[in-house]
Amino acid sequence: MLLLHPQHCFFSAHILLLFLPFALFTAASPFPNSSVHFYAHPDPDSVAREVQSQVASSHRRALLAAGDKDQCLTGNPIDDCWNCSGTDWRQDRQRLADCGIGFGRDAMGGKGGPIYVVTDPSDRDPVNPAPGTLRYGAIQEGPLWITFSRDMTIRLNEELMVNSFKTIDGRGAAVHIAGGACITLQYVSNIIIHNVHIHDCVSAGEANVRSSPTHYGWRTRSDGDGISIYGGRKIWVDHCALSHCADGLIDAIMGSTGITISNSHFSHHDDVMLLGHSDDYLPDSGMQVTIAFNRFGEELVQRMPRCRRGYFHVVNNDFTSWEMYAIGGSANPTVNSQGNRYIAPANPNAKEASKAHSFFCLIKRKCTQPA
Ligand SMILES: *[C@@H]1O[C@H](CO)[C@@H](O)[C@H](O)[C@H]1NC(C)=O
Ligand SMILES: *[C@@H]1O[C@H](CO)[C@@H](O)[C@H](O)[C@H]1NC(C)=O
Repeated sequence: MLLLHPQHCFFSAHILLLFLPFALFTAASPFPNSSVHFYAHPDPDSVAREVQSQVASSHRRALLAAGDKDQCLTGNPIDDCWNCSGTDWRQDRQRLADCGIGFGRDAMGGKGGPIYVVTDPSDRDPVNPAPGTLRYGAIQEGPLWITFSRDMTIRLNEELMVNSFKTIDGRGAAVHIAGGACITLQYVSNIIIHNVHIHDCVSAGEANVRSSPTHYGWRTRSDGDGISIYGGRKIWVDHCALSHCADGLIDAIMGSTGITISNSHFSHHDDVMLLGHSDDYLPDSGMQVTIAFNRFGEELVQRMPRCRRGYFHVVNNDFTSWEMYAIGGSANPTVNSQGNRYIAPANPNAKEASKAHSFFCLIKRKCTQPA
């Protein structure tokens, strides 16, 4: 059974539910059997509740400060944390690592490590990357905080295999990873990707690619995802803009968990976000993902996200258009949806904000009751 929030079911109106910072509902448990996944949080409802209380207290602080001159607080707990601490973020970039919320909140990124500055947008040799390139920083061992010297577009010849404990921090520059292969997080943890534009990703592969200072390996053909998370955990994608890729914008599969995707903008794409690759893959029962404060914008079709198994907290997002459906699920996922805004498309056959793939009739009957 797909555990859908009642909010999902009122989609006959065009504009539904404005942002509600507080929980109106508690997700129906039972949550999935997380003993099948070593890294899953034992009480995912408690993580969702903590997000709600963080949103509520940021909201209160912002209201209290509303009269102040130079008021920075917006009520967004993530941004208020790194952007309004009293110290300019340029002087304290690594503060960002303490500002995560939800299931990916423990992602340390490169906290505690040196700052590495990308000065060279090229990607000539994916096996022996040159110092100054993004790939050279991404494959290093140990924590590294990667920043950019100026605006740049990086066209990767092969997937960027990011090693554990890395932050890719695009603040202060307009950084595009575009027109080539994009980002792969495979069996790594503690990754933060912040303020980067990722678009027009294409498949690559049939080539050797370096993944650490001591290892490179043969990569088969990649799908062409924007960010592909494969057996990854403690991952936080924040303030990114993703559009127009050959496959998914963000896919998380093969037992990935501990993920937050926040404050990002998705547009111009068909299969937006796939969380879980197969109904039969049991370790994805431990997949736990927070999707918060995102804008699902122009010309999207479906999968925002498409969930399998696992626990998905979809909170305070703005869904402004879709051609088929917004949130989909199969294989018994728990979708805890709170405070989202859905604007259904004009097409009378595509009014459903949610869709249960394997129990389509049941949910459709339930959800097409006039509100
Ligand atoms: C969870 O799954 C494991 C492995 O399949 C099983 O041994 C255990 O009994 C299950 N626990 C619950 C509470 O269903
Ligand atoms: C950060 O703070 C500055 C100054 O208050 C503001 O102009 C900017 O919009 C903020 N950025 C974000 C992402 O909140």
